[in-house]
Amino acid sequence: MCGIVGYVGSNLAYPVIIDGLKKLEYRGYDSAGVALHMGNSIEVYKKEGKVAALEESVHGKNVQATIGIGHTRWATHGEPSDRNAHPHYSNSRNIAMIHNGIIENYAQLKSELLQKGYTFKSDTDSEVLVNFIEDIKINNECSLEEAVRIALKRVVGAYVILLLDKDLPDTIIAARKGSPLVIGVGENAHYLGSDASPMLAYTKEVVYINDYELAIVRPDELILKNLGNERITPFVQKLDMELAAIEKGGFDHFMLKEIFEQPQTIFDSLRGRMDAEQQSITLSGVDKIAERLLRANRIIIVACGTSWHAGLLAEYVIEELCRINVEVEYASEFRYRNPIITDQDVIIAISQSGETADTLVALENAKKQGATIFGLVNVVGSSIARMSDAGAYTHAGPEIGVASTKAFTAQLTVLYLIALKIAQLKGTIEATLFNRLLADLANVPAYVKEILDDQHAVIQAIARKYSDARDFLYLGRGYNFPIALEGALKLKEVSYIHAEGYPAAEMKHGPIALVDEQLPVVFVATKDSYHEKIISNIQEIKARKGKVIAVVSHGDNVATGLADDVMVVPHVHEIIAPVLSVIPLQLLSYYIGVYRGLDVDKPRNLAKSVTVE
Ligand code: F6R
Repeated sequence: MCGIVGYVGSNLAYPVIIDGLKKLEYRGYDSAGVALHMGNSIEVYKKEGKVAALEESVHGKNVQATIGIGHTRWATHGEPSDRNAHPHYSNSRNIAMIHNGIIENYAQLKSELLQKGYTFKSDTDSEVLVNFIEDIKINNECSLEEAVRIALKRVVGAYVILLLDKDLPDTIIAARKGSPLVIGVGENAHYLGSDASPMLAYTKEVVYINDYELAIVRPDELILKNLGNERITPFVQKLDMELAAIEKGGFDHFMLKEIFEQPQTIFDSLRGRMDAEQQSITLSGVDKIAERLLRANRIIIVACGTSWHAGLLAEYVIEELCRINVEVEYASEFRYRNPIITDQDVIIAISQSGETADTLVALENAKKQGATIFGLVNVVGSSIARMSDAGAYTHAGPEIGVASTKAFTAQLTVLYLIALKIAQLKGTIEATLFNRLLADLANVPAYVKEILDDQHAVIQAIARKYSDARDFLYLGRGYNFPIALEGALKLKEVSYIHAEGYPAAEMKHGPIALVDEQLPVVFVATKDSYHEKIISNIQEIKARKGKVIAVVSHGDNVATGLADDVMVVPHVHEIIAPVLSVIPLQLLSYYIGVYRGLDVDKPRNLAKSVTVE
């Protein structure tokens, strides 16, 4: 939610910032803006819409600065507009600030400032904060750094802020709490970003800033302090990421590229962790908390959105294989409803970004109550990864398309490994089943490739046929139920078609009233122990003239015979089938979005990383 970029060095800042904002646009694209320190003044340029609109509006203007900050916004306080776009000036125009997060006590701070005669041009909480900082600076006759420190002690909420001060022509002041901030160390230059992508073209040396830390950033100097003004030694890490990973590589959209990357990303999730011949799984994160897991009362899975769907499947799999009670929680509900947590509980947090605010706070609460936290995260060095007691990375690589695809299948893959590992440690799985599941998992990358090769054109044709539909229903049973939910979510996100995911049998208790000859019903109907039941559910829809699109196992003539359209996947054990059955649904959503003329990589109102609650 909101992307922030900063540059201070000896080159021109503007191109670095614009390039960085384009890389971070997945975090929000309601408006974009830059502030450049021009020596005697700070110039702010900002525009509603995407970064391209900003670039166009800045064309021909003086941007000859070597220090600047930039922002791409996902609106919270105030509609998307030029005046609500960041950066925001303080009243004197001596300070400019960008902000990612929410200042919860902004109303109180604003009323204090209004009484002192401050005026506001925007509806944002961020403009309140920059003026609050300026007010402290003036009243205490102190430096900007000191004013920020004092101000942040009163701020309630989450933030990353970057500030320029007219009196400091070579310094960016930055601070974070609850939103991500990475600083890249270059040659006589520093780069700041919400993640490492804006700096990847220039440096691989980065410092991840922690909550309650403040950075004073100059071309040749990075000073880190805590809010008590004590120095902290920056911990420089080397990025393990290539520039190609964040470029489209010949595909029309990141979403399509990421769907097609899945044979590789699933392979990467398995690599070094599974040895089908030795019948062994290596997961150091599970080993680290093995004792806790083995005596756990229950496992609570906490996540949001697509990651929650991965968690729901994990509930089915872990309960089946490990015989441990599992609960799956929406982080946003879990954090507010006073759940009963003990030190016997293990929490598995699932998050692509590792920055989702609700998940993060839910974990902090659970940790305070003694639970052990295991993080299943994609973004290396992210907040959830760092606050976990143990964990495993999903190794899907950077996911830029706002709708999650490869991160989801990587989550499923690692969750299978986790379940199998625990089951083996607990002795709750027969060797034959263990070996069968391991063998199927080893083949998943090849099977996904087979689906992408064989079904691509078929799915394109199905997508074209149904792209004008007004509603969709997605149905699945057992292990495929979470995939029905995920299929519906994907379609909603990228096509703006209303879609509902439902347990196939539950459909009779209400949604069946929606069925008529206009309604496409997608069945996730791969061969499993419920197959006959789902065939009956297909019959029920057909009897009411609904249009049936089915994901079926190779060779399933019954389902194929009943459905209007089919998408075929290889037949594997029912526990592993979901990681295959989701692939056609991703492609279906993608092409329906494309045929409706939509920007599938940046769907309206969405942002990749939800760092506000
Ligand atoms: C859907 C999607 C979202 C995320 C959710 C959680 O395609 O991407 O529903 O899954 O916002 O995000 P993470 O996994 O980053 O915590």
